[in-house]
Amino acid sequence: MSEETGLSLYEIIGGEVPVKALVDRFYDLMEEEASFDVIRRLHPPDLTQSKEKLFKFFSGWMGGPNLYIQEFGHPMLRARHLPFAIGIPERDAWLACMRQALIDTHVEPTLQQVLLESFSGTADWMRNQSP
Ligand code: HEM
Repeated sequence: MSEETGLSLYEIIGGEVPVKALVDRFYDLMEEEASFDVIRRLHPPDLTQSKEKLFKFFSGWMGGPNLYIQEFGHPMLRARHLPFAIGIPERDAWLACMRQALIDTHVEPTLQQVLLESFSGTADWMRNQSP
Protein backbone atom coordinates (compact mmCIF):
# COMPACT_ATOMS: atom_id res chain seq x y z
CA MET A 1 0.00 0.00 0.00
CA SER A 2 1.42 3.36 -0.97
CA GLU A 3 1.31 5.93 1.83
CA GLU A 4 0.72 8.76 -0.61
CA THR A 5 -2.08 7.34 -2.74
CA GLY A 6 -3.60 4.55 -0.66
CA LEU A 7 -3.27 2.29 -3.71
CA SER A 8 -1.57 -1.09 -3.69
CA LEU A 9 1.54 -1.68 -5.82
CA TYR A 10 -0.65 -4.06 -7.85
CA GLU A 11 -3.03 -1.21 -8.67
CA ILE A 12 -0.20 1.23 -9.32
CA ILE A 13 1.58 -1.06 -11.78
CA GLY A 14 -1.74 -1.62 -13.55
CA GLY A 15 -2.94 -5.09 -12.48
CA GLU A 16 -2.56 -8.56 -13.93
CA VAL A 17 -1.40 -7.73 -17.48
CA PRO A 18 1.71 -5.67 -16.56
CA VAL A 19 2.65 -8.07 -13.73
CA LYS A 20 2.48 -11.00 -16.19
CA ALA A 21 4.48 -9.04 -18.76
CA LEU A 22 7.18 -8.30 -16.17
CA VAL A 23 7.51 -11.94 -15.13
CA ASP A 24 7.51 -13.19 -18.73
CA ARG A 25 10.22 -10.71 -19.67
CA PHE A 26 12.26 -11.63 -16.57
CA TYR A 27 12.36 -15.31 -17.50
CA ASP A 28 12.77 -14.64 -21.23
CA LEU A 29 15.83 -12.50 -20.44
CA MET A 30 17.15 -15.25 -18.20
CA GLU A 31 16.85 -17.59 -21.18
CA GLU A 32 18.37 -15.20 -23.71
CA GLU A 33 21.22 -13.40 -21.94
CA ALA A 34 24.45 -15.29 -21.32
CA SER A 35 25.20 -13.13 -18.27
CA PHE A 36 22.19 -14.70 -16.55
CA ASP A 37 23.38 -18.29 -17.10
CA VAL A 38 24.47 -18.36 -13.46
CA ILE A 39 20.78 -18.36 -12.43
CA ARG A 40 19.28 -19.94 -15.56
CA ARG A 41 21.12 -23.18 -14.83
CA LEU A 42 19.46 -23.47 -11.41
CA HIS A 43 16.00 -23.52 -13.04
CA PRO A 44 14.17 -26.37 -14.80
CA PRO A 45 14.60 -26.72 -18.59
CA ASP A 46 11.03 -25.53 -19.17
CA LEU A 47 10.35 -22.19 -17.47
CA THR A 48 6.54 -22.29 -17.83
CA GLN A 49 5.96 -23.30 -14.20
CA SER A 50 8.52 -20.82 -12.94
CA LYS A 51 6.71 -18.00 -14.77
CA GLU A 52 3.36 -19.15 -13.41
CA LYS A 53 4.60 -19.32 -9.82
CA LEU A 54 6.42 -16.00 -9.81
CA PHE A 55 3.39 -14.29 -11.38
CA LYS A 56 1.08 -15.74 -8.70
CA PHE A 57 3.51 -14.77 -5.96
CA PHE A 58 3.94 -11.19 -7.22
CA SER A 59 0.17 -10.80 -7.56
CA GLY A 60 -0.32 -11.32 -3.81
CA TRP A 61 2.94 -9.69 -2.77
CA MET A 62 1.96 -6.48 -4.60
CA GLY A 63 -1.39 -6.41 -2.83
CA GLY A 64 -3.51 -8.00 -5.57
CA PRO A 65 -5.22 -11.42 -5.54
CA ASN A 66 -3.37 -13.85 -3.25
CA LEU A 67 -3.00 -16.48 -5.97
CA TYR A 68 0.19 -18.14 -4.76
CA ILE A 69 -0.99 -18.66 -1.17
CA GLN A 70 -4.37 -19.97 -2.37
CA GLU A 71 -2.66 -22.64 -4.45
CA PHE A 72 0.59 -23.45 -2.65
CA GLY A 73 0.20 -22.14 0.91
CA HIS A 74 2.69 -19.96 2.73
CA PRO A 75 5.53 -19.03 0.32
CA MET A 76 8.35 -19.87 2.81
CA LEU A 77 10.62 -18.35 0.19
CA ARG A 78 13.90 -18.89 1.97
CA ALA A 79 13.14 -22.55 2.64
CA ARG A 80 11.96 -23.08 -0.95
CA HIS A 81 15.25 -21.66 -2.23
CA LEU A 82 17.47 -23.81 0.00
CA PRO A 83 17.87 -26.57 -2.64
CA PHE A 84 19.62 -23.99 -4.86
CA ALA A 85 23.07 -22.62 -4.09
CA ILE A 86 22.50 -18.86 -3.91
CA GLY A 87 25.46 -16.60 -3.18
CA ILE A 88 26.33 -13.04 -4.14
CA PRO A 89 26.73 -13.74 -7.91
CA GLU A 90 23.29 -15.41 -8.05
CA ARG A 91 21.66 -12.64 -6.00
CA ASP A 92 23.18 -9.97 -8.21
CA ALA A 93 22.23 -11.77 -11.44
CA TRP A 94 18.61 -12.14 -10.23
CA LEU A 95 18.42 -8.43 -9.42
CA ALA A 96 20.10 -7.40 -12.70
CA CYS A 97 17.67 -9.58 -14.66
CA MET A 98 14.72 -8.04 -12.81
CA ARG A 99 16.08 -4.52 -13.31
CA GLN A 100 16.28 -5.11 -17.07
CA ALA A 101 12.79 -6.65 -17.15
CA LEU A 102 11.37 -3.58 -15.37
CA ILE A 103 13.01 -1.32 -17.96
CA ASP A 104 11.95 -3.46 -20.92
CA THR A 105 8.31 -3.58 -19.81
CA HIS A 106 8.23 0.21 -19.30
CA VAL A 107 7.39 0.22 -15.61
CA GLU A 108 7.31 3.82 -14.43
CA PRO A 109 10.82 4.77 -13.14
CA THR A 110 9.80 5.66 -9.56
CA LEU A 111 7.91 2.40 -9.28
CA GLN A 112 10.94 0.55 -10.69
CA GLN A 113 12.99 1.93 -7.80
CA VAL A 114 10.41 1.04 -5.16
CA LEU A 115 10.16 -2.53 -6.47
CA LEU A 116 13.92 -2.99 -6.85
CA GLU A 117 14.60 -1.79 -3.32
CA SER A 118 12.12 -4.24 -1.98
CA PHE A 119 13.42 -7.12 -4.16
CA SER A 120 16.99 -6.33 -3.04
CA GLY A 121 16.16 -7.09 0.57
CA THR A 122 14.38 -10.31 -0.32
CA ALA A 123 17.09 -11.44 -2.73
CA ASP A 124 19.80 -10.86 -0.13
CA TRP A 125 17.81 -12.79 2.47
CA MET A 126 17.68 -15.73 0.01
CA ARG A 127 21.46 -16.17 0.09
CA ASN A 128 22.53 -19.50 1.52
CA GLN A 129 26.19 -19.49 0.36
CA SER A 130 29.11 -17.19 0.96
CA PRO A 131 30.22 -15.35 -1.02
C1 HEM B 1 18.46 -14.32 -5.04
C2 HEM B 1 18.46 -14.95 -6.22
C3 HEM B 1 17.40 -15.94 -6.60
C4 HEM B 1 17.61 -17.11 -7.26
C5 HEM B 1 18.96 -17.61 -7.77
C6 HEM B 1 16.34 -17.78 -7.38
C7 HEM B 1 16.15 -19.01 -7.98
C8 HEM B 1 14.99 -19.73 -7.98
C9 HEM B 1 14.82 -21.07 -8.49
C10 HEM B 1 15.92 -21.90 -9.11
C11 HEM B 1 13.53 -21.42 -8.32
C12 HEM B 1 12.84 -22.73 -8.73
C13 HEM B 1 12.14 -22.51 -10.04
C14 HEM B 1 11.09 -23.52 -10.33
O1 HEM B 1 10.84 -24.43 -9.51
O2 HEM B 1 10.46 -23.40 -11.37
C15 HEM B 1 12.86 -20.30 -7.69
C16 HEM B 1 11.54 -20.28 -7.34
C17 HEM B 1 10.90 -19.18 -6.86
N1 HEM B 1 11.44 -17.95 -6.59
FE1 HEM B 1 13.38 -17.49 -6.69
N2 HEM B 1 15.36 -17.00 -6.83
C18 HEM B 1 15.95 -15.86 -6.34
C19 HEM B 1 15.32 -14.81 -5.74
C20 HEM B 1 13.95 -14.69 -5.61
C21 HEM B 1 13.29 -13.50 -5.11
C22 HEM B 1 13.99 -12.20 -4.68
C23 HEM B 1 11.95 -13.78 -5.13
C24 HEM B 1 10.80 -12.92 -4.76
C25 HEM B 1 10.83 -11.61 -4.64
C26 HEM B 1 11.79 -15.13 -5.64
C27 HEM B 1 10.59 -15.80 -5.79
C28 HEM B 1 10.45 -17.11 -6.16
C29 HEM B 1 9.18 -17.84 -6.13
C30 HEM B 1 7.83 -17.30 -5.72
C31 HEM B 1 9.47 -19.14 -6.58
C32 HEM B 1 8.50 -20.31 -6.70
C33 HEM B 1 8.64 -21.13 -5.41
C34 HEM B 1 7.92 -22.45 -5.51
O3 HEM B 1 6.70 -22.50 -5.26
O4 HEM B 1 8.55 -23.46 -5.82
N3 HEM B 1 13.03 -15.65 -5.92
N4 HEM B 1 13.76 -19.28 -7.51
